[in-house]
Amino acid sequence: MAVLVVKSGGEAAMADWREGFAACAPGLEVRWWGEAGLRAEDVDYALVWDPEPGRLAAMTNLRAVFGSGAGVDGIVADPLYPRHVPLVRMSIPAATERMGEFVCWAALSLLKDARRMAIAQAERRWDEVEPPYRASQRTVGIMGLGNMGSAATRMLRGIGFPVIGWSRGRKDVPGVGSYAGPGEMAAFLARTDILVCLLPATAETRGIINSATLGGLRRGAGYIGVGRGMQQRLDDILAALEDGQLSGAVLDVFEPEPLPPGHPLWGHPRTIVTAHVASLPSRAERAAAVAAAIAGFERGEGLPNLFDHERGY
Ligand code: NAP
Ligand code: GLV
Repeated sequence: MAVLVVKSGGEAAMADWREGFAACAPGLEVRWWGEAGLRAEDVDYALVWDPEPGRLAAMTNLRAVFGSGAGVDGIVADPLYPRHVPLVRMSIPAATERMGEFVCWAALSLLKDARRMAIAQAERRWDEVEPPYRASQRTVGIMGLGNMGSAATRMLRGIGFPVIGWSRGRKDVPGVGSYAGPGEMAAFLARTDILVCLLPATAETRGIINSATLGGLRRGAGYIGVGRGMQQRLDDILAALEDGQLSGAVLDVFEPEPLPPGHPLWGHPRTIVTAHVASLPSRAERAAAVAAAIAGFERGEGLPNLFDHERGY
């Protein structure tokens, strides 16, 4: 019987994981990462979010690693990660659909000034907000047109937002303006009213949401941060909110997480803060995806959504 070791959500999450796998892969032995007596050489597969450095390398018979999220930066941060072992990203439809929903909610919240409405309600104040724009008048610019960005694009367009995208390579999506590489970033930003960051965490994307990037947007733009906290300079976001370059922000990711209780963004009147929840498929959905991938792999099929160590995502 193949052994899958799990470290995602802590030991408290193991009952959910076991139930999820029992429903779709009863032949898989699911074991907790921290279990006493677990022998590293017995492990065939690992499902992890943030493994302690060196632990995966010690699993000498490991056949594949599954990230419990789409971003696997917490896994490849391990300098001893065994690169010959395939690493699968959790970019499953249950995740991309949730991300699309979150980005649509965030874009509509910025369009309708939901933060202002929430403050007025908390103060029991009748505040007749007059949102100046319709969706069709605000171009959403998405940085990162991969699995998540593509789903968000489809769903935003369904609401009526014009969408453009920026990625490493050019995309051919009818009706979606595609900008590629550093040379086309300024042109992309200049057309953007609501910026969405859906980039992976790489050396190139560290600090990419900074005062120069925000300054390149149309004045009064909105910002939605759903990639990784390391991409954002929070002081620059605060400054852009203060001087009106940004009219609002929805921030889901931070470095560090949780955002410290004393941080000024918590109480900022034009910021919605969420707790890294933009796309969190249920454990049952993730277990089903991992079980299907393992079953295919054991039949000799390829694994989906593989991490590329050269690209960094
Ligand atoms: P993906 O399919 O690999 O897409 C990544 C996209 O980013 C691709 O379009 C890629 O361009 C582009 N890109 C990468 N490096 C770039 C660079 N230096 N300059 C310009 N574009 C660049 O990844 P995904 O599944 O969509 O996930 C994206 C990220 O979302 C994850 O890595 C994670 O950080 C984040 N995420 C957050 C949550 C949350 O709950 N907040 C949930 C899931 C994922 P090419 O297409 O040209 O390669
Ligand atoms: C969550 O942040 C993920 O990468 O899936």
